[in-house]
Amino acid sequence: MYPLPVTGRYSGSKFRIFKFLKIIICSLLITVLLLFTIASIRTFSLDVNAGLQLAHWEKTNNISLAIDHSQREQLLTHFKEAIRIPTVSFSETEINTTALLEFDRFLRKAFPTVFSSSLVHHELVANYSHLFWVKGSQPDLVPYILLAHIDVVPASESDGWEAPPFSAKEIDGFIYGRGTLDDKSSLMGILQALEYLLLKGYAPRRGFYIGLGHDEEVHGYKGAMNIVRILKQRGVQLSFVLDEGLAIIDGIFPGLEGPAALIGLSEKGQAIVKLSVSMPPGHSSMPPRETSIGILAAAVKRLEDNPMPRLFGYGPEGDTFEHLAHKFKFPMKFIMSNLWLFSPLLGRILETKSVSNAFVRTTTAVTLFNAGVKLNVIPSLAEAYVNLRIHSAQSLQEVLDIVKDTVRDQRVKVELINGFDPLPISAADESAFGFQIIKKTVLDLFPSVTVAPGICVGNTDSRHFKDLTKNIYRFAPAWFKPGDTERFHGINERISMQNYEELVVFYFNLIQNCDIRKLPEPHSSVHEL
Ligand SMILES: *[C@@H]1O[C@H](CO)[C@@H](O)[C@H](O)[C@H]1NC(C)=O
Ligand SMILES: *[C@@H]1O[C@H](CO)[C@@H](O)[C@H](O)[C@H]1NC(C)=O
Ligand SMILES: *[C@@H]1O[C@H](CO)[C@@H](O)[C@H](O)[C@H]1NC(C)=O
Ligand SMILES: [Zn+2]
Repeated sequence: MYPLPVTGRYSGSKFRIFKFLKIIICSLLITVLLLFTIASIRTFSLDVNAGLQLAHWEKTNNISLAIDHSQREQLLTHFKEAIRIPTVSFSETEINTTALLEFDRFLRKAFPTVFSSSLVHHELVANYSHLFWVKGSQPDLVPYILLAHIDVVPASESDGWEAPPFSAKEIDGFIYGRGTLDDKSSLMGILQALEYLLLKGYAPRRGFYIGLGHDEEVHGYKGAMNIVRILKQRGVQLSFVLDEGLAIIDGIFPGLEGPAALIGLSEKGQAIVKLSVSMPPGHSSMPPRETSIGILAAAVKRLEDNPMPRLFGYGPEGDTFEHLAHKFKFPMKFIMSNLWLFSPLLGRILETKSVSNAFVRTTTAVTLFNAGVKLNVIPSLAEAYVNLRIHSAQSLQEVLDIVKDTVRDQRVKVELINGFDPLPISAADESAFGFQIIKKTVLDLFPSVTVAPGICVGNTDSRHFKDLTKNIYRFAPAWFKPGDTERFHGINERISMQNYEELVVFYFNLIQNCDIRKLPEPHSSVHEL
């Protein structure tokens, strides 16, 4: 390069600006190139099913389960009978205790070995919930707990069910009924697996608990909370908790190729906030400029117009996409492999649909609005309830502060009715015992599935267990195909007979897999760059 002659101040500064611009452009180009290279390498190197799968696992799943025709008939008969008992929780104070007592009798009849084995200690908790302790031969191995719940949400045939909701009718290979997914398939799957194991002479090395709550659908204040109280009194610490929550999704997420088993590492928090406006009542012939209804409506509208901040990538939802990236096509594959660069962009894409928006932020839902008593009376009181589901990266207090700041009207009273912080995020790395055992059990049963961490937008009984362990996982290997998510708490809840059988096999293998003393050393781990 020829040095340009420098003649005078003007041309000198022009030269300096030119040189400066060139340096900037060059460094920008280099940065973009570098980012692109790193991004591309990441896009191709993140194969996350590797890791511990290739390592040498101690063999503890010595007992195999081959379900023959008559066993199949029997396990399905039990399952159907469980569905037919309407263990409905209508509200916190209204539960069907008759059905819960019937369910208790049914369990003892269906699983005689579980209830009579000297290895199993059973106790009733809060009259209708159950706690089982299966003693291990090696007391130094930290026990775990499997959770499921007995109660179901209400269901009425008139809502449009293809079969009555408590009929457990078989249609095209599926069993229909309330509880077939949530959560009697897990409950029956766990106990059926234990019944088989005990019949085959199994005795665990690692002790474990089974907790069956009877009021999960109305917060678990009696069942799960009393089970926790008992375990705390006994000084129990748990290696991990496995409860309901996420599932195997297949064809549900646009662009995702092949099935993915999502294991919930956390749950969003919740807040129920009451907004109220109180004004002197008056006659509608001489209305004030603003009424309590108008003031409250404006406040509610401000909340809807100002959603909570976009936080995609600050919680475990980022991990989900990074784990699944290689199952997407370009350009999504490229974007998801490089959330360090693209998470703001992906957040913007995801927030456009309400299903995926739930992963991006704390959601705000106005669920009740009450005001007015008479056609010609200005009401004195107007109140609304807002249900917020709190993103992992925010606290209950932060959310309340934002709500007050958005409402910003002294006349609107903002009260927290109840709420809790998002649950801590459980580990999913190569030393996370519970996560790796669940993952291995899934992959042994379904080799084509990708296992990824996930987050529950709803809540489960397991949230009450957070003082007993840092590691709470929410998953059952139920297959969710297009249209199935609406069956959850909706109409035509169902599970295929084959899938129920798979659940039994899953728990049968999981319990044995937990008998390893410790996780294997990673064979050849693929690390992030
Ligand atoms: C399973 O079998 C292997 C030998 O094949 C034995 O070493 C191991 O102790 C057995 N595990 C259990 C839990 O019985
Ligand atoms: C409660 O359960 C019993 C069966 O155990 C059933 O006969 C009854 O109809 C149920 N009640 C309600 C209100 O669902
Ligand atoms: C259990 O039942 C007894 C007797 O019906 C009752 O007094 C008690 O409050 C019940 N306990 C719970 C936790 O529901
Ligand atoms: Zn449930």
